[in-house]
Amino acid sequence: MLMELPKRRQEEAWASVNEHWQRFSVAFEYPVYFTEGVFRSSNPLLWQTMCRLEPAKRHRALVFVDDGLLVPRPDLLDEISAYAALNRTRLDFVADPIVVPGGERIKDGFHYFEGMQRSLLEHHIDRHSYVIAVGGGAVLDAVGLVAATTHRGVRHIRLPSTVLSQDDSGIGVKNGVNNHGQKNFVGTFAPPFAVLNDIEFVEVLERRDKIAGMAEAVKVALIRDRAFFNWIEGNVEALARFDRAALSYLIRRCAELHMHQIAHGGDPFESGSARPLDYGHWAAHKLEGLTNYDLRHGEAVAIGIALDTRYSVLSGLLADGEDGRICRLLERLGFAIWHEQLEALSGGGDHVILEGLRDFREHLGGELSVTLLREIGVGIEVHEMQESLVLQAISWLHRRQAS
Ligand SMILES: NC(=O)c1ccc[n+]([C@@H]2O[C@H](COP(=O)([O-])OP(=O)(O)OC[C@H]3O[C@@H](n4cnc5c(N)ncnc54)[C@H](O)[C@@H]3O)[C@@H](O)[C@H]2O)c1
Ligand SMILES: [Zn+2]
Repeated sequence: MLMELPKRRQEEAWASVNEHWQRFSVAFEYPVYFTEGVFRSSNPLLWQTMCRLEPAKRHRALVFVDDGLLVPRPDLLDEISAYAALNRTRLDFVADPIVVPGGERIKDGFHYFEGMQRSLLEHHIDRHSYVIAVGGGAVLDAVGLVAATTHRGVRHIRLPSTVLSQDDSGIGVKNGVNNHGQKNFVGTFAPPFAVLNDIEFVEVLERRDKIAGMAEAVKVALIRDRAFFNWIEGNVEALARFDRAALSYLIRRCAELHMHQIAHGGDPFESGSARPLDYGHWAAHKLEGLTNYDLRHGEAVAIGIALDTRYSVLSGLLADGEDGRICRLLERLGFAIWHEQLEALSGGGDHVILEGLRDFREHLGGELSVTLLREIGVGIEVHEMQESLVLQAISWLHRRQAS
């Protein structure tokens, strides 16, 4: 009589017959360029980028442009058409540039998404054609989703036009639109074909938006690069008056640090539960909602940084005094690091901002993972935050603002 196999052996035997592992990896790469006057006739960068893989071919492209950028740059559409005409032996821009709404409007559900997708259909954009997006982070997110999903992915070139999109969102691998009341509810991870950062686009931004985009640079300097933090501190006056050389370096270094994290952080498509570069972001996301998005993302991040920095001191991680130093830097750059919504109470008398921790935990997939500061340039991940210390940190910010 045959002996019964133990259960574990039975499972192994079953698996060896019925289980087949599919395993392959794909290397992703894309260039990020820093330039000025990308559509000037003398600037070859865009056509060279499009000809990178097939130099002899004439390349088809459809261009989408953020309407907000056209306010300070009303001639931009003509410049784009003139650039295409000048380089017509290499480029075939299949239609006049299509103007799309800038800001969160374009990410509101699928209305604009479908319209853009229809344009790709009408103009026969195939997997080897290009979809080019010129605009802020919202336009890049929405056009990026169109490019990633149409024909399961067409080549996508991004020309970010805000400080935030040049130093953070536009150089990364994510896209998305909002749906069912949730931000970025629908989206994909899809590396672009190339990113071209033109400093002249950010120079026409409103003052408030130029300042807001610098928060991400302070953030990444604090948790990754002490020398960069010292550089920001040393150049704070030039940055506060948006000196071109200073602003260009800040954007470039911030972009490099974000790119390094994506390439070498071990989790480019965020399948784990950590968001290591999201310093100051749990409170920032909540504050953005609490203010009905009156606060720009960067403005909320600056407040979140100030809060988590003071928390880092209160919890014994960071040396006392560093909090004042970091807050002063943010203020000298032009940020307000206080907002009354930090003290908003729910009907039950609880501090609403604390819900930000719960939201963050859910977004990460169950386990809380928050980056705090051990020293300037060195972030540290923690899995718990004490609510009483968060409230003390808020009181400290309030007292600081009042004095
Ligand atoms: N994909 C990612 O990894 C990622 C990361 C962070 C943020 N985001 C997204 O980025 C978006 C925010 O992006 P943003 O901060 O660039 O702002 P934005 O795209 O919302 O643009 C802000 C406003 O500026 C206008 N604008 C754009 N460029 C301009 C210019 N040069 N001059 C004048 N006006 C101009 C726009 O029309 C808009 O009205 C959010 O939707 C956010 O979810 C995405
Ligand atoms: Zn951010």
